[in-house]
Amino acid sequence: MVGNKTAGLVAAAAKAREAAVAPYSRFKVGAALLTRRGEIITGANVESASYGLTVCAERVALFKALTAGQRGFAALAVVARLPGGPMPCGACRQLLAEYAPDARIWVADSRALGRVREFTVPELLPGAFLAVPRGPG
Ligand code: THU
Repeated sequence: MVGNKTAGLVAAAAKAREAAVAPYSRFKVGAALLTRRGEIITGANVESASYGLTVCAERVALFKALTAGQRGFAALAVVARLPGGPMPCGACRQLLAEYAPDARIWVADSRALGRVREFTVPELLPGAFLAVPRGPG
């Protein structure tokens, strides 16, 4: 069983998933970020006819949160209809390493929201590149 905090965030990600704009893949993903202050910011994937412009649910949530001035994230829940839940892609892992390094990552299948797998960001992206060194390269 998962705790209330986890269940609440996973439920928020499942709800956010309904707003996904995924006409090409038809793979809807929802994400919900929990700030250390207890606020929840959600996102869903948005696809483009120029496929590479697609933005994942995780990044939509993260960019919404950051541009609303939020900092300090405790957890991120990601939900899609996929056995075991969707694992964040490499691009999202990079941004999580930069802006939510301490967040717990919770992934769940939309058909089994009570079954949550947990990861840390360093587990998902060991040895992340975090800053461009200053001065002449
Ligand atoms: N996608 C996400 O939104 N998050 C993930 O963790 C995996 C992939 C989206 C991107 C694209 O719209 C669709 O899922 C298929 O790759």
